[in-house]
Amino acid sequence: MILEINNVSKSFGGIKALKNINFSVKEGEIHALIGPNGAGKTTLLNIISGIEKMDSGDIRFKNISIKGIPPHKRAALGIARTFQNLEIFGNLKVFENILTGLYLKNQKGFLKSGITLKGIDKDLIIQSFSILEYVNLLNKKDELAKNLPVGEQRLLELGRALATDPHLILLDEPAAGLNMRETKNLSQLIQKIRDEKAITILLVEHDMELVMGISDMITVLNFGEVIAEGEPLMIQKNPSVISAYLGED
Ligand SMILES: Nc1ncnc2c1ncn2[C@@H]1O[C@H](COP(=O)(O)OP(=O)(O)O)[C@@H](O)[C@H]1O
Ligand SMILES: [Mg+2]
Repeated sequence: MILEINNVSKSFGGIKALKNINFSVKEGEIHALIGPNGAGKTTLLNIISGIEKMDSGDIRFKNISIKGIPPHKRAALGIARTFQNLEIFGNLKVFENILTGLYLKNQKGFLKSGITLKGIDKDLIIQSFSILEYVNLLNKKDELAKNLPVGEQRLLELGRALATDPHLILLDEPAAGLNMRETKNLSQLIQKIRDEKAITILLVEHDMELVMGISDMITVLNFGEVIAEGEPLMIQKNPSVISAYLGED
């Protein structure tokens, strides 16, 4: 198991966002985390990436507890993520956004908005281009990130995650705002990343065609609790998942 979530709980004031969550993600798997809005999916990704603290429980990454480890160190260990509400650097160029990921990997700290690019290693710039090519954004490399349509901004975030050379990528609703063609491309890209780069994927997503099409395993959250876990065909037939989330069709 590359990731183990053990008895994780989290409250916000009176809201119990996560109640004793237990599940594991196998190395090399595309593992989906699904459930209705407010179920606690983003909170769990925030806890795994370290930007939110759990109240109790433990998280193990490659058999080592990462409890208390700050986000940038988790990133250096190999945990990358994207955000439901896109967190790219809008005023940086597309390739500069990728550089921030490469810098993180190289432990040079974040490249902040506004810093000049003087003195940046040519080698890193070339690496940023090859990542952009991988996510099909090379032709946009010199545009300001804020000027890209949402579908391409999501690809850019995924590219920045890839730039940190991760072993696990947490994706928070990567298909939100994408049209059908973009979603299809994203689906192929996620599979390609797993197949070619052997990166494990934890995928939070509402597009059930995408989820059912590419996931090896699915964990279902509802009101902060795991209500089901299994392969796509089993999850689609599970009565409590149907009543809590999927509906009859
Ligand atoms: N920072 C926060 N402060 C207060 N409540 C929060 C915060 N983050 C999440 N919550 C609450 O925790 C619950 C789970 O939210 P979230 O993890 O965003 O769900 P999901 O991603 O599954 O839609 C919701 O009731 C939400 O309102
Ligand atoms: Mg969410």
